[in-house]
Amino acid sequence: MTRKYAVRTFGCQMNAHDSERIAGLFEHEGMERAAHEDEADVIVLNTCCIRENADDKLYGTLGWLKPWKEAGIDRQIVVAGCLAQKDKERVRERAPFVDVVMGTHNVHRAVDLLKATAGGAGITEIFDEAVIDDHALFPSALPVRREKSYNAWVTIQIGCDNTCTYCIVPSVRGAEISRPFADIVAEVTDLAAQGVTEVTLLGQNVNSYGRDLSLEQRRLGDHDVRVRPQFADLLRSVGAVEGIRRVRFTSPHPKDMTTDVLHAMAETPDVCEHLHYPLQSGSDRVLALMHRGYTGARYLERLAEARRIIHDLAVTTDIIVGFPGETEADFTASLEVAAEAKFDSAYLFIYSPREGTAAAEMTEHFVDPAVAGERFDRMKVVLDRTAVLKHRERIGRTEEVIVEGRNKRDETMLTGRTRQNKLVHFASNEMLRVGTYAQVLITDAARFHLSGHLVEVGDAPQHKVRLSVQAVG
Ligand code: SAH
Ligand code: SF4
Ligand code: F3S
Repeated sequence: MTRKYAVRTFGCQMNAHDSERIAGLFEHEGMERAAHEDEADVIVLNTCCIRENADDKLYGTLGWLKPWKEAGIDRQIVVAGCLAQKDKERVRERAPFVDVVMGTHNVHRAVDLLKATAGGAGITEIFDEAVIDDHALFPSALPVRREKSYNAWVTIQIGCDNTCTYCIVPSVRGAEISRPFADIVAEVTDLAAQGVTEVTLLGQNVNSYGRDLSLEQRRLGDHDVRVRPQFADLLRSVGAVEGIRRVRFTSPHPKDMTTDVLHAMAETPDVCEHLHYPLQSGSDRVLALMHRGYTGARYLERLAEARRIIHDLAVTTDIIVGFPGETEADFTASLEVAAEAKFDSAYLFIYSPREGTAAAEMTEHFVDPAVAGERFDRMKVVLDRTAVLKHRERIGRTEEVIVEGRNKRDETMLTGRTRQNKLVHFASNEMLRVGTYAQVLITDAARFHLSGHLVEVGDAPQHKVRLSVQAVG
C-alpha cells in the first residue's frame, strides 16, 4: 500500500521551503500526502528554534504524537529543521520514540534516513555544515511539492555570516553561501515555464548575495572581478524572466542595503513595491549591543530614500522589545523610530534568550518579563495605529491582486494579495481560479487586511497542475 506522509512546519519561509523539499523527495519515492495526519504513516515535524516558545511547541507536539506512534507498528516520526540542528541527541533523549532526527543540512537525506529506520532503530544525523554537493547544498536543487501553484520560493543564499547577538540562526543554518547566479535564473525560468508568476527570493541577508561568489572568482585568479554583492543584478535578471509578474524577497539587512538595490527595485517593473526592513530596535545603544551595524537615524534615512526611489512602497519590519539592558529611554527611542517609520505592518517579539548566543550571557541585564510585556503592549499600540493609517490611505484605489482562494471566514468572499503584500477580502460574483490576477476596488481597511469588490478580471492562471475552482455564490 502507498505510504502517506504529513509535514508540519514550525518556522520561517526557509523552513517552509525545506518542508516542500522533504515532501517532494517523499513523493519522488512514491509516497502520497495524507489528507489528514491521522491517516499518515510518516509525520515530519520541521522545527524552528528562534525563540523559546518554538522549543516548547516541538516537545508539546511530540507528547501528543506519542500515542499516535504507538498505535501503529509502521508509523514513523521525523524531526527536522533548526531545533533538531540545535538539540541534536537531546531530541531523542527527551522523546525516544522519534525515528529520525535530521539537521538543516540533511534535507536531501530524508528518504534514506526514513528507510534506514524502517526496522525500528532510531537515527540522529546532523551534518555540521552544508555538504559540497549540488543537491545537498541548495534545497532548491531537490524535487519539490509546492504549496502554492502560482508562487514559488527560490533559495538564493543559505546560512548567515552576521553576528546579531540575540540570534541563533547562524549557529543552526551555518555560514552564508550564495547560490550561483545562473542557477537561480535557470530555476526561475523553469518555474515560469510551469506557469508560476510570482517568486519569492529567500536568504537571511539577501543584500550580501553574491559577495562570496565574487571573492571566489578572485581567489581563482580573475583579478578584474570587483568584490561586491550582486543582489541588484539578480533582481533585474529575475525580473526579466518572461512569464514572471511579481518578484518578492526576504530578508534584507538595513546595514547592507544599497541605493543600487533600491534603484533595481524601482526600475524592474516585476519587483513588488514591498520592503521587509527589520528595525529590531530604535535605540543606538541597543542596536550596538545587538551588533546590527546601523543607528536609528541611519535606518530612517535609508527608509526615506527607499520611499523616495520606489513609488508606493509598503514597508514591514521586525522589532524586539526587552533586549538585555534595554532601559525605558532605549524603549522610548524604539517607539519614536517606529512611529516615524510608519510601518504597514510589523512582527513584534519579546526578547527570548537563546543558549549559545552572546546576548544570552548578559543575564544580569535581563529585563523583567512584566516590563517587557508592558513594552510589547505599548509598542503594539504604535504599530497598530500606523498600520491602520497606512491601510486607510488605500481606500478608493483599485489594486491588482492575485487570488489566493476563498475567504476562510466568509465563504461568499474571495481573498487575494496585492503587490504591497496586503491581504484583500473582496466580493465577487464570478468564479475565479486560484492564481488569477484581478483588479479590486478597495472600500475598507483594517489592521491586517483591506476589503473591497471585484472590478475586473485579468489574466487567468497558466500553471499546468490541477487546481480547485473557487465558486462564489
Ligand atoms: N535574517 C532575518 C531574521 C530571521 S529571524 C533578518 O535579519 O531579518 C526573524 C526575526 O526573529 C528577527 O528579525 C528578530 O526580530 C526575531 N528574533 C530573532 N532572534 C530572536 C530572539 N532571540 N528573541 C526574540 N526575537 C528574535
Ligand atoms: Fe539572525 Fe542577524 Fe543573521 Fe538575521 S542577519 S539571521 S537576525 S544573525
Ligand atoms: Fe527559520 Fe526558525 Fe530556523 S526562523 S531559520 S526555522 S530558527
